[in-house]
Amino acid sequence: MSTKHTILTGDRPTGPLHLGHYVGSLRNRVALQSLHRQFVMIADMQALTDTDPVKVRSNVLEVAYDYLAVGLDPNQSTLFIQSQLPELAELTVFFLNLVSLARLERNPTVKEEIRQRGFERDVPAGFLTYPVSQAADITAFKATLVPVGADQQPMIEQTNEIVRRFNALTGTEVLVECAALIPEQGRLPGLDGGGAKMSKALGNTLALSASPDEIRAAVKRMYTDRTHLRVQDPGQVEGNVVFSYLDAFDPDAQVVAELKAHYQRGGLADTAVKRRLEEVLQAQLAPIRARRAQAAADPAEVLGILAAGCDRARAVAGQTLREVRLALGLEYFKPRPG
Ligand code: TRP
Repeated sequence: MSTKHTILTGDRPTGPLHLGHYVGSLRNRVALQSLHRQFVMIADMQALTDTDPVKVRSNVLEVAYDYLAVGLDPNQSTLFIQSQLPELAELTVFFLNLVSLARLERNPTVKEEIRQRGFERDVPAGFLTYPVSQAADITAFKATLVPVGADQQPMIEQTNEIVRRFNALTGTEVLVECAALIPEQGRLPGLDGGGAKMSKALGNTLALSASPDEIRAAVKRMYTDRTHLRVQDPGQVEGNVVFSYLDAFDPDAQVVAELKAHYQRGGLADTAVKRRLEEVLQAQLAPIRARRAQAAADPAEVLGILAAGCDRARAVAGQTLREVRLALGLEYFKPRPG
């Protein structure tokens, strides 16, 4: 990546961020912030599509603490809150005309989320259409790169469809297409071995802010290979949650490769693999936890960071919206003084 990208990405504040967010996207963002122009958004409006406002409100700062904890630097990344940019809501309304109900219902991620939440036909319209609002988030910044977990790929495709439609409809090049940046590692499975991703809604998460005891307990109850009953038996590595986590977190790929080979041959106990994983997780999460405590000790300071970020972000989105309104012919009056 030699060219400088504009990056926009974000998270729903439905709870503290967890290891799935870290592997899926946060790690990439930290690596990219010094190379590109990066905007990181706390998606409180999107969270409201399925979450109680009190809960959303109380998690905004938690997510901000997580951002600072993993090493997002407010001098390099603009951290802001979605709801504070009315431009994003406005752009969403324009975009809703460019997408059909049938297309929204085919979005595989939304489809799966509707199933998981048991909405059936009572799905809130705002929930079904959140990919449109996500398209607005991305395009308002003319973002070209969106670091997200693999499950967000359909959102990027929908965004680019909307971009092409908007530009064709208005005969302009106001909006730009984007690419997803998906980590090679792929999605991190939940702790429960059910095969689903780590997700707050499924209750199979480990928070980035987890205490040493919580980390220990999570590793202890993690699924391995259910058919690996005796130490001397050969064990399966595929679908084995402990090995997926080692792949994602162990800095020493050589050690992991050796552990895998040993496990597959037989003679390596689940407890031994888990011991390695626990060490690795404790080591990686300790500094994150320490930085988080530091951030959380001064909420006013963190709010100040977010306020400044909202101002910067709003200036950028505001400029795009002026271009969008002009492209749609929605400028009726000459600019008036004041
Ligand atoms: N849907 C994303 C998630 O749940 C959050 C999000 C909202 C987002 N708007 C975005 C991600 C724009 C990337 C770009 O994690």
